[in-house]
Amino acid sequence: MKKIEAIIRPEMFESVRDALLKIGCQGLTVSEVEGHGKQKGLVQQWRGEKYQVYLLPKLKLEIVARDRDVELIVRTIMDSAGTGQIGDGKIFVYDVSTAVRIRTGEKGEKAL
Ligand SMILES: Nc1ncnc2c1ncn2[C@@H]1O[C@H](COP(=O)(O)OP(=O)(O)O)[C@@H](O)[C@H]1O
Ligand SMILES: [Mg+2]
Repeated sequence: MKKIEAIIRPEMFESVRDALLKIGCQGLTVSEVEGHGKQKGLVQQWRGEKYQVYLLPKLKLEIVARDRDVELIVRTIMDSAGTGQIGDGKIFVYDVSTAVRIRTGEKGEKAL
């Protein structure tokens, strides 16, 4: 199993969620986060003064999936979260050692 962690633009969430539902993605965790990538935020102007905003609001999606589904999920997020502009976000994939469904005690892929 793998965990797919995607940092996306908050305004792209509905598009990503709809695309994930379409491919039959089972579960999803979403958190509101702040971060920056290469550009270290952006420069804004207010009443003629320029100032640097270092942290921009993003959404973090976490999906734990079977190994064989990872490629499709990553491609689906790429296709639905992108605008082609800087700040579109990133996807990280991690190994997951196990999962447990608390209600039944099912373990591993059966718990997803
Ligand atoms: N190396 C990283 N480690 C952890 N989070 C990152 C990293 N790079 C980017 N992020 C997260 O992804 C968000 C979007 O990054 P983005 O601006 O699209 O990346 P970049 O400018 O590097 O192409 C950031 O706000 C941050 O939350
Ligand atoms: Mg950036």
